[in-house]
Amino acid sequence: MPQSSFPAFRVLFSNDAILRRTHELVRCIEHDLRVAGAKEPPCLVAVIEGARPFARQVQKLLAGNLPVYEVRASSYGTGTVSSGKVALSGGAEIPARGRHVLLLEDIVDTGRTIKALQEHFLGQGALSCRAATMLSKPSRRVVQVPLDYVGFEIPDEFVIGFGMDLDGRYRELPDVVVYEQDVERAFQQAVAH
Ligand code: IMP
Repeated sequence: MPQSSFPAFRVLFSNDAILRRTHELVRCIEHDLRVAGAKEPPCLVAVIEGARPFARQVQKLLAGNLPVYEVRASSYGTGTVSSGKVALSGGAEIPARGRHVLLLEDIVDTGRTIKALQEHFLGQGALSCRAATMLSKPSRRVVQVPLDYVGFEIPDEFVIGFGMDLDGRYRELPDVVVYEQDVERAFQQAVAH
């Protein structure tokens, strides 16, 4: 769908910029795997729904065409404010025991989701649980979690697009844009007339 079918939200990172940066992150991941002399490839786990496009890119660029497992984590009920509680679901089939897990996340905000996932997989016997995230909002951190690979750090703004949503909307936007209610309202009024 062309971007003009959507409100003209401010673009923070174009699709091209995201893809270029993901390429760089994958080079870092491969470098670290070589340095560690890893005998087995990492167990890739995407935090869905939001991280699917990012995970797809990582999978495409990382050698070995590794499977990407999926786990669902939700802390946002509706709207743009986190509920503070992380519910995990799915992922029972993920072979984490004895493996180095690499979490693939769209955005790290309070840090609670990554923390909950790390505890979950380490509890299941993973040898390690690293995290790669497309975006990070460091000023919003409530729980300190080490992030091994970060695409871009951003200020405290609610972003959508490239997989990220607001109540299930706007995931399909190709760029990462800043959600602004005024811009959305103006668009809806223009469409209605
Ligand atoms: P955390 O547990 O607070 O770090 O939240 C991480 C999750 O919150 C991400 O996987 C997203 O689903 C969601 N999230 C946080 N900030 C944003 C945002 O700006 N846009 C869209 N989703 C967000």
